[in-house]
Amino acid sequence: MNIAVYPGSFDPITYGHLDIIARASEIFDRVIVAVSINPGKNPLFSLEERAEMISRECANLKKVTVECFRGLLIEFVREKKASTIIRGLRAISDFEYEFQMALMNKKLYPEAETVFLVASPEFSYLSSSIVKEIASFGGDVSGLVSRHVAVKLQEKYRG
Ligand code: COA
Repeated sequence: MNIAVYPGSFDPITYGHLDIIARASEIFDRVIVAVSINPGKNPLFSLEERAEMISRECANLKKVTVECFRGLLIEFVREKKASTIIRGLRAISDFEYEFQMALMNKKLYPEAETVFLVASPEFSYLSSSIVKEIASFGGDVSGLVSRHVAVKLQEKYRG
């Protein structure tokens, strides 16, 4: 069985992430969306809140499951017996960081390959931060995230 892990902070999940997840689920036998901690980021949603939102959005994708992890990505990949790490590439600016991460993960765990899926053009400008910024000023985020996620964002910023 070809198991792939799609890691990220997903704070929150956007239509851009969902595009990658849906396409990955066409390629692999199983896709584990791994919600994780990026030490360089200060998240708006807890890991559990992020996982709940993703599970809801992926409920119709039978090959997709959602899990949280707190340590090194490659330890999670090893534990899940996955052979592939999926990353989405939006623009050239993503490349340097992704290149470094892919090489470091390969050095730490050579058994896994990183596979890049190029983001669909309509989502190539999207990021969780830009969605949060728009929501924080009361802007319209429909078309960028689901209605459920938009409501969760509203609740956070109203609260
Ligand atoms: N559509 C829309 N947005 C996308 C996207 C897509 N297809 N692909 C990425 N993004 C956005 C994300 O929303 C995120 O936006 P933000 O910076 O505004 O939050 C940004 O691009 C990149 O984030 P993401 O893909 O979620 O990755 P990340 O950089 O937050 O997380 C981890 C990287 C979690 C995978 C990495 O930190 C990790 O592996 N952590 C575990 C510790 C570890 O193993 N470290 C060693 C790594 S070598």
